[in-house]
Amino acid sequence: MNKIIKKTQLSDDVYQMEIEAPLIAEERKAGQFILLLIDLEHGERIPLTIAGADTEKGTITIIFQAVGDSTKLIAQKEEGEFIESLLGPLGTPTHIQKYDKPVVCVGGGIGVAPLTPIVQAFKEAGNEVISIIGARNKDLLILEKEIRKYSDEVIICTDDGSYGRKDLVTAPLKELCESDNVPAEVVAIGPPVMMKFCALTTKPYNVYTTVSLNTIMIDGTGMCGGCRVTVGDETKFVCIDGPEFDGHLVDFDNMMNRLNTYKDQEDHVCNIGLDNKGAK
Ligand code: FES
Repeated sequence: MNKIIKKTQLSDDVYQMEIEAPLIAEERKAGQFILLLIDLEHGERIPLTIAGADTEKGTITIIFQAVGDSTKLIAQKEEGEFIESLLGPLGTPTHIQKYDKPVVCVGGGIGVAPLTPIVQAFKEAGNEVISIIGARNKDLLILEKEIRKYSDEVIICTDDGSYGRKDLVTAPLKELCESDNVPAEVVAIGPPVMMKFCALTTKPYNVYTTVSLNTIMIDGTGMCGGCRVTVGDETKFVCIDGPEFDGHLVDFDNMMNRLNTYKDQEDHVCNIGLDNKGAK
């Protein structure tokens, strides 16, 4: 059992929770996730990216959008109550290295949550970090302060122009790829369609692009096959081979078709990076 230490509502249906989990807090690295079991009656395990950790307090932070049955159940939990179990850290950590050129981190909707520890890790490795974060409107933009803390430059885009540029995140991304200071790497996390178009934007410039996939996930152990995706010519499992992959090799259309197959079973929706209902 893991105690909820703090609960904060970040926007209409996006919540942040700090949960007691000292061992996971100690071990976790940027890019990894946990499987959360809300209670024994609702046996589904929900994958959620670890958005942060405090090793002194022994807590981890998760951020999720309450749109499916399971995520709504988590949102009903209050400070002092317990989560049945947390399993993790799972998945391959983000590959962090020092580059001579900037790293551009792109986050859409609730995808900004898993992006934040990656922005921090690239900054702490000594990189110039340019972050592009987007949302449908100003009220839905999350974690701007945290992203600013670890970025040399932040570009904000909203669909309705209520804050920052009235643009899709791919517009400033293209400009950066065309500039003299071409990014060494781009990390894009958000709705599948956003990641697809970020990868298509960077491909002509040959800029390596990491994406964090948000597939259906069931057992999280590589056994059930629920999270399989096609990357290049190979079948990969997001839970053990990912969640991060080379965005230029991912078959996004295939992945999105598989996600649509499960639309009616929304309590099986995975929340790595972004709920598949699309927060942005
Ligand atoms: Fe079952 Fe990945 S969740 S194989």
